[in-house]
Amino acid sequence: MTWTHTFNSSPDADLKGALRKDFHWGYATAAAQVEGAWNKDGKGESIWDKLCHTPGKVKDGSTNEDAARSYDLYKEDVALMKSYGVNAYRFSLAWSRIIPLGGADDPINERGVQYYNELIDELLANNITPFVTLFHWDTPQALEDRYGGMLNQEKYTPDFLRYARVCFERFGGRVKHWITYNEPGVYTLAGYAAGVHAPGRSSFRDRNEEGDSSTEPFIVAHTELVSHAKAVKIYREEFKPTQKGVIGITLHGNYSEPWDVNDPKDVAAAERARQFEIAWFADPIYGSGDYPQCMRDQLGDRLPTFTEEESTLVKGSSDFYGMNTYTTFFVKHLNEPADINDHKGNVEKLDTNSEGKSRGPESDTYWLRTAPEGFGKLLRWVWNRYHVPIYMTENGTTAKGETAPTEDVLNDTFRIDFYNGYVRELAQAVQDGVDIRSYFGWTFTDNWEWAAGYTDRFGVTYVDFDTPEKKRYPKRSAYFLRDYFKHLIAED
Ligand code: BGC
Repeated sequence: MTWTHTFNSSPDADLKGALRKDFHWGYATAAAQVEGAWNKDGKGESIWDKLCHTPGKVKDGSTNEDAARSYDLYKEDVALMKSYGVNAYRFSLAWSRIIPLGGADDPINERGVQYYNELIDELLANNITPFVTLFHWDTPQALEDRYGGMLNQEKYTPDFLRYARVCFERFGGRVKHWITYNEPGVYTLAGYAAGVHAPGRSSFRDRNEEGDSSTEPFIVAHTELVSHAKAVKIYREEFKPTQKGVIGITLHGNYSEPWDVNDPKDVAAAERARQFEIAWFADPIYGSGDYPQCMRDQLGDRLPTFTEEESTLVKGSSDFYGMNTYTTFFVKHLNEPADINDHKGNVEKLDTNSEGKSRGPESDTYWLRTAPEGFGKLLRWVWNRYHVPIYMTENGTTAKGETAPTEDVLNDTFRIDFYNGYVRELAQAVQDGVDIRSYFGWTFTDNWEWAAGYTDRFGVTYVDFDTPEKKRYPKRSAYFLRDYFKHLIAED
């Protein structure tokens, strides 16, 4: 079944042609969540392969061994995407598929390279522009075992740089949009502060055998920032002159609203929360070249310092602001001193504000609610603070009750309302002068949602995970977005 949508009434009618004619839109995915083939054709183990084979770490006890099988089904997937009208696709490369052991002196797995070559060629043959992420959380396990992965900046960095170089060499003739890291903040907070994502370290001994939530997240973040900047330097000096692409980083960040808008302490707390979440990475790259002062004030020496050389390197190291965002929270100040393991700016994040207003309708994911207004504010906050072109690299939702591909489930009005609200905010921000150049929905097909396993379905395509074929069923939102972007993108 396919659906068509028209946009004849205000405010959507007024937005016709609001987006630049070279606007890129499509869907984003991550290797570990969709590829499957976790140990096929020479692929090495990643930290997520290890974590999901450890009992008790994934909600439904599942693994990503097969995931959505996009490794095998990439041709069908590209054809389906094409039928959804996209002109771009953002996907990540699995480092341990390309270099199974990950290290600077470890061998390249040519079959892994070949898979990505074929995928890129298939996309280009269908006029779909590839946006490629080097790292979407799947560190090769061998590097974790050898020296503790990103906790060891000195040893890790050359390994990452060699991997990046291999990717630029092998794919850069055809790939013109590069993203070094996906959400360095979520990688470090979920992996080293909460300890619920790989590599599963934290101060909480009921959860993790090792780790220190008060220091490690900040060390790992520093490694990510510096190694990102060094990879960008390599690209700009050695590849960009001939390959002529752009390179940047993608940061996570939800919007923070004050719990009580009339309480200056909550207003300050909301701003502090934005800085702890977003400016932690964005200020060093797009702003001052250093961490925000409020983080230094709260964390003291636990926050690493940039050497002068690092700061110069990191500042300006992204051609664009890659933005992943999903929701908004109400933020309330706390009166007690910050907990040693706090990484939010000593605030409480709530679902309702002082007037009892909810932050939005509930999805099927506990932290995610539909809150398009906050998205509009976030776009302006980022634009006003950093003034770099924004590439929206992820945005989307789950919906309650998606347990079988019935007609009702496939007619996913909850997801359509989400996308309508958010994309409308995006187009209005563009009309207000914010420079936004892409939008990637999260995500193309239902996938393996990390520690939530197969329980959280973010796709515009339903996947029947119970069958070996992983059969795909388009949801209506896929056609909604197809028609909406057709309406919004300016014609020649
Ligand atoms: C990540 C995705 C994830 C999505 C939904 C983002 O933080 O980049 O990998 O599936 O959020 O949770």
